[in-house]
Amino acid sequence: MKKKKLDELKRECLECKKCVLGETRINIVFSDGNPESAKAILIGEAPGENEDKTGTPFVGRAGKLLNEFLEKAGISREKDLYIINTVKCRPPKNRVPADTEKKACEDYLLKQIEIINPKILIFCGATALKSFYDKKIPISKIRGEVLELEIGGKTRKCIPIFHPSYLLRYHSLEEGSPRYLMLEDLKKIKTLLA
Ligand code: URA
Repeated sequence: MKKKKLDELKRECLECKKCVLGETRINIVFSDGNPESAKAILIGEAPGENEDKTGTPFVGRAGKLLNEFLEKAGISREKDLYIINTVKCRPPKNRVPADTEKKACEDYLLKQIEIINPKILIFCGATALKSFYDKKIPISKIRGEVLELEIGGKTRKCIPIFHPSYLLRYHSLEEGSPRYLMLEDLKKIKTLLA
């Protein structure tokens, strides 16, 4: 049922030329995960080179690190998550997607959220957070907090977490370090999914 609606939506995306990213993409990066079993949607920033080549989100270095953290927290990427990005096409040179590009993609995201109807939305990184939350608060100050936000006409539980690309720069696992906090946040998400 969900799959049929999502397949229809994906067909629309494959034709999409609503913004300039459609001119340079190799592939649409529509989603990853099992729409029937997913209890959370994780929203990243934008596809990078590997994602553009494969059509799957979070398969490069950042994706591999994300996988490690999910595993440590006991969250199954395949079963518990449905993964998307703020835009479905790779921005050239991996720049941050422009507001106009995010806006052009917004309807697709909102439809995916409505179809999956997850228990929780995970904003992975500042770009995803900013797309849905208009207060200017750094991700380091708000990560791990459960926000109740109006999204697509429904109040939804949302949690911002660090982006794995940020964690690639910090290796410590010491209490209070970015990697330590990421694991804490994911463990909290795990309990919210139960
Ligand atoms: N970074 C993102 O934000 N999303 C991806 O899909 C890959 C890297």
